[in-house]
Amino acid sequence: MTDPGAIGVGVLVSGGGSNFEALAVAVREGRVPGAEIRLLISNKPAVGALDRARRLGIEALVVEPREFPNRAAFYDRVAAEFERRGVQLVCLAGFLLKVEPNFIAKFRGRILNIHPALLPQYGGAGMYGHHVHEAVIKAGERESGCTVHIVDEEFDHGPIRMQSRVSVLPVDTPDSLAARVLAQEHKLYPEALRREVEYLRKGLS
Ligand code: GRF
Repeated sequence: MTDPGAIGVGVLVSGGGSNFEALAVAVREGRVPGAEIRLLISNKPAVGALDRARRLGIEALVVEPREFPNRAAFYDRVAAEFERRGVQLVCLAGFLLKVEPNFIAKFRGRILNIHPALLPQYGGAGMYGHHVHEAVIKAGERESGCTVHIVDEEFDHGPIRMQSRVSVLPVDTPDSLAARVLAQEHKLYPEALRREVEYLRKGLS
């Protein structure tokens, strides 16, 4: 059911979608007042996030870049699908493609991303998944965490909205650290979405 007064949220994923689920459950439980997740788009077929969407009753589409002549055309389609459903705010949740300027121009300041490190450190091209946690451990850091930020034209770069910290233990492997960070992500992202929606609703009223 669509509430015309709600802020429409769209989510972009490439994989498992545990952050997407954390957002969807928070919205369903009323922890993100005035928000409605209207559409999930995956750039890959047969990923876990699509099963989660089915289970959660959220509409989901697969839109693959190879169906388009170039990335700009791919993002035009993604933007059109979101716009058709009244999406005003986009959450990247484990979305591995670089976001192109034509998409950013349409949703400027209204695209959030979550990154599994304390940006501005350990971000940028190639810094995703276990690469991030390997680099953090290799550098001997005692702390890591996760960051929610606004997406701009550079990878992992736009204004930081919220961060959460975790300890790095001497016994940590990239996998054990990833699990600790991911548990924090599932708390941080819904709270960051709540704030962003509140901010957007104030701007609209
Ligand atoms: C998370 O660690 C997120 O920070 C990063 O990709 C991972 C996605 O995990 N951008 P999931 O697909 O949400 O489970």
